[in-house]
Amino acid sequence: MQILLIVSKPVVKDLLSINIKSFLGVDVIVRTNSAEAVDLLAILPEIDLIISDKESAFAMAEYLTNNKKQTSLIVLGDKTEEISGIYPITQFLAESDWEEIVTLSAKSLGISDDILKKRKHSEYTAIPVTYFLNLDSSCCDVFIRIAKSENDFQFVKRIHRGDTFSKMVISRYIDQNLKYFYIPTEQLEQFSVYVSNQLVKKLAEPIAIEEKIEVLGNSFTIATQEILRIGFNSSTIQLTESLVTSIVDSFMAEEVASPLLRKILNSKTGYIYQHAHLTSIVSSEIIKNLGIKDKHIHEKMAFAAVFKDISLANNEELAMITSFEELENADLDDEEWDQVFNHALEGAVMIRQFPEAPLDIDYVIKHHHGVQNGKGFSISIKDNNFDVDSLIFIISVEFVNELLRFKIKGGTPKPLIDELYKKYTNSESIRIIKALEKTLKKSVNNGSKS
Ligand SMILES: [Fe+2]
Repeated sequence: MQILLIVSKPVVKDLLSINIKSFLGVDVIVRTNSAEAVDLLAILPEIDLIISDKESAFAMAEYLTNNKKQTSLIVLGDKTEEISGIYPITQFLAESDWEEIVTLSAKSLGISDDILKKRKHSEYTAIPVTYFLNLDSSCCDVFIRIAKSENDFQFVKRIHRGDTFSKMVISRYIDQNLKYFYIPTEQLEQFSVYVSNQLVKKLAEPIAIEEKIEVLGNSFTIATQEILRIGFNSSTIQLTESLVTSIVDSFMAEEVASPLLRKILNSKTGYIYQHAHLTSIVSSEIIKNLGIKDKHIHEKMAFAAVFKDISLANNEELAMITSFEELENADLDDEEWDQVFNHALEGAVMIRQFPEAPLDIDYVIKHHHGVQNGKGFSISIKDNNFDVDSLIFIISVEFVNELLRFKIKGGTPKPLIDELYKKYTNSESIRIIKALEKTLKKSVNNGSKS
């Protein structure tokens, strides 16, 4: 059985596809708009159910009517006569009401209540093992899953609620290639709050910078993945705010930035986190060298750095694509291609839901690959079209792309500053590149190469 889900918001997409897959055990194919959905239906006409956001709903109702289809349609939004008038087998539900959406989908697909109830009650939820690296106890029992046969699993308790454990214990599971622990689904919400609170506490502790970077790396991954999974709630908001503060403080605490950049590059942390923290530090260096004395701008850059690639938080490989050429050469399916192509725009849309986000930060995120509408990557850039904050951020992102490319792939380092001067030619950009150059010269004078 297959469900076609047409939604443009990444949060809604994750919320619904994860829950439908885990409760109903059916395939969910995701498209972001009606044109893509219609293309798909041309090659896969036997879809059992269509769930559409309100933006695409009318076009889908029209398509189904014109093609004399009898596929059930669930629309995420208020009932409208316009749609139900042309396609009577339509039901309307709020996009946040995932439990009702799952139940109604089960009904449309003929999945009986018994099976649904059993699935709802017997489910454990998978939690990445890395979530436990910065915890020393858990608020609920923690299990591992052992396969008895292809579809039959046994859950074995490994950590009791309230027990203390060391990082070593968790690292051993990771060394053995265990990817997930399982916790009872009913305690998921409570667990998410518990993890966030523990991390917020850890981030505030005075610890050596190397250790801090590891805690930051883990907190970053958890915060971004939790935001994608459940959106903003008090604990993900608090964790994000602690992250931003810690990133800004890490810059303020150092006289010279290059040792910090090196420590981040050499840490055992993920790509997206490293890219974010490095971009924030490089932007802050530029701001300092430009003589701007406003702490809010440092905060704005750190916020933008945390959110710029958030829609790719579950797939580091996709975040490593930083140019059109790499995008065209990568072996991606349509959905992944779209995800990379639209990620700057999606980050900008998500930050608008964050309470008290810095003013105009969505523009900085949308522009981070040098494109005005947040789609794709710039080849040449019209730098007069961007404000100073965006230009600082775009140039920092480009610099960090090269730092990380060189670290991961090696080869000959590009004469990056020369290339930046060729690409960015207006007077504001030249001032920014000069400010970046000043930092690089400072680090060479300090005997370090970064
Ligand atoms: Fe990006």
